[in-house]
Amino acid sequence: MNLRYLKCSLCGTEYSPNNVTYVCPKHGDNGLLDVIYDYDKINARTSPADISRSEEFSIRRYWDLLPIEKHASLPQLRVGWTPLYRSPRLGKQLAIGELFLKDDGLNPTGSFKDRASAVVVAKAKDLGVRVITTASSGNAGAALAGLSASAQMPAVVFVPSTAPEAKVAQLLIYGAHVFLVKGTYDEAFDLCLAASKQYGWYSRNTGYNPYTTEGKKTASLEICEQLARSGESRDKWIAPDRIFVSVGDGNIITGIWKGLRDLMGLGWIDKIPKLMGVQAEGSAACYNAWKAGTETIKPVDAHTIADSISVGLPRDGTRAVRAVRETGGAFVTVSDDEILDAMRQLAREEAIFAEPAGATGYAGLVRAMSSGLVQGDEQIVVVITGNGLKDVPSAIRAAGNAQLIEPRLESVPRI
Ligand SMILES: Cc1ncc(COP(=O)(O)O)c(C=O)c1O
Ligand SMILES: [Zn+2]
Repeated sequence: MNLRYLKCSLCGTEYSPNNVTYVCPKHGDNGLLDVIYDYDKINARTSPADISRSEEFSIRRYWDLLPIEKHASLPQLRVGWTPLYRSPRLGKQLAIGELFLKDDGLNPTGSFKDRASAVVVAKAKDLGVRVITTASSGNAGAALAGLSASAQMPAVVFVPSTAPEAKVAQLLIYGAHVFLVKGTYDEAFDLCLAASKQYGWYSRNTGYNPYTTEGKKTASLEICEQLARSGESRDKWIAPDRIFVSVGDGNIITGIWKGLRDLMGLGWIDKIPKLMGVQAEGSAACYNAWKAGTETIKPVDAHTIADSISVGLPRDGTRAVRAVRETGGAFVTVSDDEILDAMRQLAREEAIFAEPAGATGYAGLVRAMSSGLVQGDEQIVVVITGNGLKDVPSAIRAAGNAQLIEPRLESVPRI
């Protein structure tokens, strides 16, 4: 393993992973830890060209950049290496020269969260823990349930009782122990943390567990490698100009930033893209902090159709705001109608069926173009973070209902 130490994102104190499991002891639940690697060691073992020859079409191809001890710890389920589609039609509509869509809804449980859950389950295996737990708005839990089933490890998942039925069905069919919390995601998060402390379960809670970002960073490793492949460059990878991603807790955007910083540290890319965080208007705590020029996140009363990003108190908000500020990007907010419109556009123009939070990054790109925030000559990647089948009622809301018809031919032309 090429991990050197864990570093508090607030005070910079360094810890050995043998001594600290979750957060900085001085800062408690706010002291999220960054995972620091030995870049010289990684460069001595591997290179972009080596990885490009790998036949592992999953996050496993980035083994040397993962915080895992034993190969056997990583569940067999195939996570990552999702397609990066060129999108000339939507690009033309928006007057963007080069637009790419990374469809992470094609992960095994249908969302980006499989990346984090795979790495955390592997960590749990490395550590020899017996039970793993998480709070979730739905997808992180579904991902943990699936990856735990793959690793045959018991999982306990706390989700708000309002989570879409399909996500709850995923939890149940994979055999997780499911608690439907009569409250918000934020309340489920706190309950799950308390239960994990009480019963000694290993917590995968987003951000609180330092390895969730390490799973999520694999998306940016893939983006830069895939852009290089499309341009036939193998020795160096290619960073796009901008990446758009939807933001709830802020852990995906933090993970994407981390992957880019690792690649810069290794000398495998030449620049860090501007990161564009997209939040729903009704759940915009990170946007508010960014706009106010602070890293302190004030909770909001969250309401949006995009259940996955309906978060009152983003747990990784400080690093998310930093990711946007330090890369020279921006936060954008979008309405629920803009999200529904993005779902229709993605499905009809590019045949990508996204859940509301999955389409929110694209809605943010549309908003950023119309407000002149972004120039059309940039190379832009939008991450689609979740599959549309996870929330069928929202898809019907976006698409409208089908026509009912009598089983007679003369009814067809009438309709
Ligand atoms: C589909 C989807 N998109 C985006 C997000 C936002 O990720 P984060 O909460 O890490 O900001 C989530 C989180 O649940 C999600 O499930
Ligand atoms: Zn600290």
